[in-house]
Amino acid sequence: MEYSRKNPFPATIKEAYCLARDNVKETNHYIVDIADSGLEYKPGDSLGLFPRNDPELVEALLQKLGSSGDESVELKRKGEISFREALAEHLTIHRANRKFLKPLMAKLPVGNQQGLEQLLSDRTALDQYLNVRDYIDLLDEYPAASFTPQEFAESVGGITPRLYSIASAPGAHPGEVHLTVAIVRYNSFERDRAGLATGYLADRVTVGETPVPVFIQPTRGFVIPGDGSHDIIMVGPGTGIAPFRAFLEQREMDGASGRNWLIFGEWFEKTTFFYEEEFRAWQESGMLARLDTAFSRDQDEKVYVQHRLQQAATEVWEWLVAGAYFYVCGDKDYMAKDVHQALIDIARVQGSLSEEEAEHYVNRTLMKEEKRYLRDVY
Ligand SMILES: Cc1cc2nc3c(=O)[nH]c(=O)nc-3n(C[C@H](O)[C@H](O)[C@H](O)COP(=O)(O)OP(=O)(O)OC[C@H]3O[C@@H](n4cnc5c(N)ncnc54)[C@H](O)[C@@H]3O)c2cc1C
Ligand SMILES: NC(=O)c1ccc[n+]([C@@H]2O[C@H](COP(=O)([O-])OP(=O)(O)OC[C@H]3O[C@@H](n4cnc5c(N)ncnc54)[C@H](OP(=O)(O)O)[C@@H]3O)[C@@H](O)[C@H]2O)c1
Repeated sequence: MEYSRKNPFPATIKEAYCLARDNVKETNHYIVDIADSGLEYKPGDSLGLFPRNDPELVEALLQKLGSSGDESVELKRKGEISFREALAEHLTIHRANRKFLKPLMAKLPVGNQQGLEQLLSDRTALDQYLNVRDYIDLLDEYPAASFTPQEFAESVGGITPRLYSIASAPGAHPGEVHLTVAIVRYNSFERDRAGLATGYLADRVTVGETPVPVFIQPTRGFVIPGDGSHDIIMVGPGTGIAPFRAFLEQREMDGASGRNWLIFGEWFEKTTFFYEEEFRAWQESGMLARLDTAFSRDQDEKVYVQHRLQQAATEVWEWLVAGAYFYVCGDKDYMAKDVHQALIDIARVQGSLSEEEAEHYVNRTLMKEEKRYLRDVY
């Protein structure tokens, strides 16, 4: 039987450990056992996984809704199942969504809808409001509203799988997929909360036991050069390091002759230099021609990967002109934008280009035409 997103493989976690020393950050390494699954992947691909909700949250929500959990509900894709199973495995309940607010308003006595109406008309305020609340918080806030299990099931969203960049090359770790995962935790309305998938992995999955439904999500174009003689520059702060461990393992196995340059960023050199021993060994063996690091919290002023790029502008430009591929992985909202701008600035200054020409070189030539500027950002 072929496993896919529609028919995920029930994998187990072989090994899990924290990559940061002294618990300064909860970024974990997971080794997922996919032996005998027939699943295949290449560096650059992601692993998709379907998380389950926290059973304690399920029980607390059932209590809030006044349900036993044994009631039957009809879910579009699943047919008739118990309300408890729907809440545990199929519905998103750890964060409230927009879709719920209309049915909630309809349940409120006339005259009590104004606050929610106003919120629905202001996207920023709405996002901020929903970002820190789940359905228990909403039902606490609007005690006049009550929902039958079926009404509730129809008013909330389903669970969608989470993707993780694969941190291993298949030939270096047969039967395994390695992941680098930053666990999301926060406190809101005096309750400790976690991201759905990262909380599941960190708190509810038992190594060697819990089946975790997984599938391979092939990358669209985030691949190592087909011709191994090309140089590559890899910018991967935080969990953005993941695919570059896979790239380096693959290029080492392939005997790729091109040079490899890694730029990694994290908080502290002593405690959050993820995979330090592996990268140092690659530096010593010459596999890494260059390794630059940007530890943002080792000094008063922030030092980020784009600062390291700027400091090495001459060499970055030389590598690019000689045909190097430029890869970025990690945070989409801030880091990737800043790195993008740094690249434009480097092209402008080092290539003696106008702002417009530099933008054209980065956005069109490198990215679209030559496909040498590749990103995996989230
Ligand atoms: C192609 C791709 C590759 C990826 N690769 C990786 C990877 O290698 N490693 C990795 O760790 N992640 C990776 N991600 C991100 C990953 O898919 C998940 O989005 C991430 O792990 C969070 O999932 P979650 O279910 O734990 O959190 P969710 O339950 O989805 O919650 C996350 C949300 O929590 C909110 N949140 C966080 N902190 C707070 C706070 N203090 N207060 C209020 N709200 C808060 C944020 O707004 C965020 O949107 C990747 C994503 C994509 C698309
Ligand atoms: N709480 C959350 O919502 C949460 C938790 C985990 C991960 N994530 C998301 O998951 C992704 C990866 O997170 P991660 O923990 O692996 O790493 P990260 O948060 O991206 O941090 C890695 C490094 O990047 C630095 N950084 C911050 N802003 C930057 C910028 N504008 N340009 C360059 N570097 C910058 C950080 O420094 P400083 O932190 O010192 O500024 C840190 O040294 C991101 O999208 C992140 O937002 C979110």
